[in-house]
Amino acid sequence: MAADTIIIGGTVETAEKQHKADVAIEGQKITAVRPGLAKTARNGATIIDARGKYVIPGGVDAHTHLELPFCGTVSSDDWNTGTRAAARGGVTTLIDFAIPYGKDTLEDAFHKWMAKAKPQACIDYSFHLAITNWERQGSELPRLIRLGCPTFKQFMIYESEGWQSDDRAMFLALEQSKKLGAMIMVHAESSRVLDELIARHHTKALMKKYGARLHPMTRPNYIEAEAIQRAVCWAEATGGRLFVVHMSTGQGADIIRDAQRRGVNVLAETCTQYLALDDSVFNGPDGHLFACCPQVKKKADQQRLWEGLRRGDVCSISTDTCSFTRKQKAMWKGDWTKIPMGLPGLETMLPVVYTLGVLKKRLTMKQFVARCCTDPAKIMGLYPKKGTIARGSDADIVVFDPKKRTKVDPARMETNTDWNPYEGWRLAGFAKHTFCRGRRIVADYKFVGSNGYGRFVRRAKYGR
Ligand code: URP
Ligand code: ZN
Ligand code: ZN
Repeated sequence: MAADTIIIGGTVETAEKQHKADVAIEGQKITAVRPGLAKTARNGATIIDARGKYVIPGGVDAHTHLELPFCGTVSSDDWNTGTRAAARGGVTTLIDFAIPYGKDTLEDAFHKWMAKAKPQACIDYSFHLAITNWERQGSELPRLIRLGCPTFKQFMIYESEGWQSDDRAMFLALEQSKKLGAMIMVHAESSRVLDELIARHHTKALMKKYGARLHPMTRPNYIEAEAIQRAVCWAEATGGRLFVVHMSTGQGADIIRDAQRRGVNVLAETCTQYLALDDSVFNGPDGHLFACCPQVKKKADQQRLWEGLRRGDVCSISTDTCSFTRKQKAMWKGDWTKIPMGLPGLETMLPVVYTLGVLKKRLTMKQFVARCCTDPAKIMGLYPKKGTIARGSDADIVVFDPKKRTKVDPARMETNTDWNPYEGWRLAGFAKHTFCRGRRIVADYKFVGSNGYGRFVRRAKYGR
């Protein structure tokens, strides 16, 4: 045994089992998981005392937007601050959306995203490719799959960003996904009806009266539910593989469950904010800060999403991290259609889900690890390299203290925002130590990693 590091005395939690064991790390890999490894330590090995702590796989956030040009600005967490924040929150792999602009091909977008990520990233990463023009980009799917990116996103809204896909493009992409072993991820909101509701409310009088509350008022649940229903219809007709991203409604979860029971090849994730926040956040003077897309819904939706996570019909949790500072959010000047939409989340995903999920008995520890670490790794073609604590897997490991609560304070966070949706919340589950491929990148709650350490991870296509 020539382990460089041994994590001793902790409770190892995987999606399958909970057990007391030590974890040995050699180079970038886990080499053993069993009790008694401390005795085998060579001179000079680092011993991490994890007594009274949980030892879990690093989180896999399959939905982020770092440094994204969006809503007339650029999201404030770049590949430096975003991945530092991830590390501190116990996330060791993220998958960001590479989006082609102008006449860019998918491959152009892939290389542009790689150029931003490679010198900066402190954790491992991959990309989904956004298909913004099926005619030009549809033939590129095999090439991107060969590059290790078998997942593609289509947006049912965002015409003004130049990102929107119509039903035909989704139908064709889903057909291809079946042939190629790819997965089509869909942002499901009903664009024409949403435009109509926005236009009806876009008056000086209503904006003065309701302010940022117009954001949830113009996005009732049926805007998401109808779009999910339609996307599911195309998946059912084509036999393609569909993944509904950032699902925010109980109705959406019901549609997914029914479709899965019929044998439709569809999965749906939700995000931390839809589990933790409801639309009362828009009532205060800072309500506009909480604008994201889709926006947070009602308490009943939260409940249904937790239930789906428990049962597994909601398959995983991500963050949709798309951070903006107060100054950027202030661009709205009273017009809710101009608020940059998105929230920071990488640093708080595991703590929020642990605190509201496990401590409030909505999820077991196994379910927590499954939905935040193991299942996203499996679904996205990263498992068993990522998402588990097992011999031969990458040593992506988080040690966290289940009892210690930390008050969320943006001034003490890595996330590049001067506010936080969970500001003042006392959350358990921040990483005391985070290891990414064997290297400690958080030690005693402080980031100690470095830019450029993170690596691009090739992902396997579906069914391989
Ligand atoms: O609200 C957010 N995060 N918007 C980012 C783009 C999207 O639709 O995922
Ligand atoms: Zn989206
Ligand atoms: Zn997103």
